[in-house]
Amino acid sequence: MNLPIQQLDAADVADREQFRNAVLAGLGTRPKAIPARFLYDARGSALFDAICELPEYYLTRTETAILAANAAEISRNAGPHCTLIEFGSGSSVKSRLLLDAMPTLNAYVPIDISREHLDGTVARLRSDYPALRVEAVCADYMTLEHLPDTINGARRIGFFPGSTIGNLTPEEATSFLRRVRRLLGDGGALILGVDLKKDSRRLHDAYNDAAGITAQFTLNLLRRMNRELDGSFDLAAFAHEAFYNPSESRIEIYLRSLLNQTVSVSGRRLAFEKGELVHTEYSYKYDSASLAALAARGGFAVDRTWTDAEGLFAVAWLKASA
Ligand code: AVI
Repeated sequence: MNLPIQQLDAADVADREQFRNAVLAGLGTRPKAIPARFLYDARGSALFDAICELPEYYLTRTETAILAANAAEISRNAGPHCTLIEFGSGSSVKSRLLLDAMPTLNAYVPIDISREHLDGTVARLRSDYPALRVEAVCADYMTLEHLPDTINGARRIGFFPGSTIGNLTPEEATSFLRRVRRLLGDGGALILGVDLKKDSRRLHDAYNDAAGITAQFTLNLLRRMNRELDGSFDLAAFAHEAFYNPSESRIEIYLRSLLNQTVSVSGRRLAFEKGELVHTEYSYKYDSASLAALAARGGFAVDRTWTDAEGLFAVAWLKASA
């Protein structure tokens, strides 16, 4: 059974006006910063898909292999007739591994801000899983406070793969988990993908690939400002810079201005000094202690984790705490 897509909010968080406000605010202060979510316009999303295929970017294929190897056990943890709720479903590729292992699922609830992604996902699921009840929700999962009333009382299992939690600061990650805990309710659980702390070289290479795709992904932010905000950025006058900061357990990503320059954006003149950085992303890495601490702050307890032979990545089962 397939129900119509529910529009819970305007789902216009990434629209031009918000982009303009975020850019003018973020480039008008020091240190300069632009929120990472603006990296994902159509070209940015395509570049991120290409990143996921890179030899250096082990995250996607490792998590997929962990899910494939452990889907049956994950399904047993969930129990029969539960509802699977995916936060930021994209094209729901990884969730299919769970859907295949959960034949008695009550419903699958993909949540995504992109109407286009959801329409495609629902159409494909409808043809591949004709018996599955899909209740798609078009909303920003970072602010979503309620799920549709049509989702009944079945046990709610959240799914947040991809190490997307790593792009949130510890404070943002905590408040995200608290909100998810409220949405899942007592008895709920969250299947969470987290990238693990490891050798700095391996981390460095994952965000500084030899083919330069990650650099293009970061520089695409300038291209987006040129296109959408009438910007005058010269892409050759900035460089992608990514490094691992071990004291914060995070990859930090920036655009570095290669010269003293003045650029116009949306009719404003903005000065950049040679060497000045514009922050674009954090990607936090966890270990079992920091994951347990984050889960506890968010109202969960780590019940189980599945990992790969090299211990690169973990899929954790977080049980809602009483
Ligand atoms: C989406 N997110 C989990 C990616 C990461 O690894 O933090 C984003 C990314 N940025 C550059 N490469 C990948």
